[in-house]
Amino acid sequence: MRGRRAGPLGGRRSPPAGRGGLLLALALLALTGCQPYVRVSTPTREAYQPLEGFAVRMNFMPRKPNADEGKKIYDARCAVCHGPDGRGDGSMAEQLTAPEKNPYTDFLSLFRIHPKSEPLPSRPARFNNLDQMRLNAPFALFETIARGRPHTAMPGFQHPAYGAVDGGEPRLSDQQIWDVLFWEWSRTTSRERLAQGRRIYNQMCASCHGVQGDGNGPEAARIREQVWTWARGVGPGIFTDRDWMAYRKPTELYQKIAEGVQRRGVELMPAYASRLSPDQIWTVVEYLWTFVYTPPQDLR
Ligand code: HEC
Ligand code: HEC
Repeated sequence: MRGRRAGPLGGRRSPPAGRGGLLLALALLALTGCQPYVRVSTPTREAYQPLEGFAVRMNFMPRKPNADEGKKIYDARCAVCHGPDGRGDGSMAEQLTAPEKNPYTDFLSLFRIHPKSEPLPSRPARFNNLDQMRLNAPFALFETIARGRPHTAMPGFQHPAYGAVDGGEPRLSDQQIWDVLFWEWSRTTSRERLAQGRRIYNQMCASCHGVQGDGNGPEAARIREQVWTWARGVGPGIFTDRDWMAYRKPTELYQKIAEGVQRRGVELMPAYASRLSPDQIWTVVEYLWTFVYTPPQDLR
């Protein structure tokens, strides 16, 4: 990720350099092959510290996120851009531009030349865009919401970093971020799909993974001897382990289900690619996330 560039011209609040000094600095810039100094908003001090909890941490998601709670935050803080249903069509969406994203005009503005140019548009993410959402781990969304995304209109709601836009007060707590992101997550499925996923899961998976997703199915005793994490109630295949699931991408879960799990010639889990259609596998993946968060009213 591009950091903030404190160019040789100094911060933007320093007194204006003389013409000669400016030209010299520009020549130096050209010589060193640096990109021109890009003005970015001044991040708060915390932005430079590694944020607490951004390394893998136990109890990262202490309470089960609740998508209904998240929807309240979403309606108040996010819908203006992302749209009431997360389709990227909020009332502000059309006007959003990428702040200070154009190095060309920023460079010319050093000479007080302001060419007429269209600011680059910045389109809000659509949370019903499956191609995009299935590649995201919840953790990645968490980071985007907490820090914001630099050089786009997406603000940071906890500690805006790298010059991202500030999402304003009140700051969202960790738990609020989990709640709101799982409301967005819920836009990738529907009540019918969850019901289908549940049927398949209870039929084909619960014998090992448990009806509750806690790895306590009838086969669990046997598996505990083969997989040490199951004996501890954590790790792959225990879907109530939120610390584990926070870092899982839907595509990863899909692949495990399709290919099964073999280790040192022992089949820990059968492959389902020949028994389930791709869409059926996706409905199971969507259902697996309901062990991690409480789905909203409209999906129950
Ligand atoms: C001012 C408009 C605006 C507001 C308000 C806003 N967003 Fe965004 N958001 C954006 C834009 C624009 C993007 C796309 C950034 C990009 O181009 O990568 C984005 C991207 C995201 C992403 C990344 C999606 C992905 O697939 O990587 C998440 C998650 C997100 N927003 C969540 C939220 C949440 C939660 C809120 C409210 C707490 C919120 N946003 C409020 C404009 C906004
Ligand atoms: C015979 C027992 C068994 C059955 C049946 C079974 N699994 Fe598994 N599954 C396991 C074991 C054991 C693991 C953990 C393997 C490991 O340690 O990597 C696992 C791992 C997984 C993972 C990987 C989790 C991760 O975070 O990497 C997913 C996803 C999964 N199972 C889903 C399913 C689904 C969905 C079904 C039903 C369609 C199913 N499993 C059926 C035993 C089973």
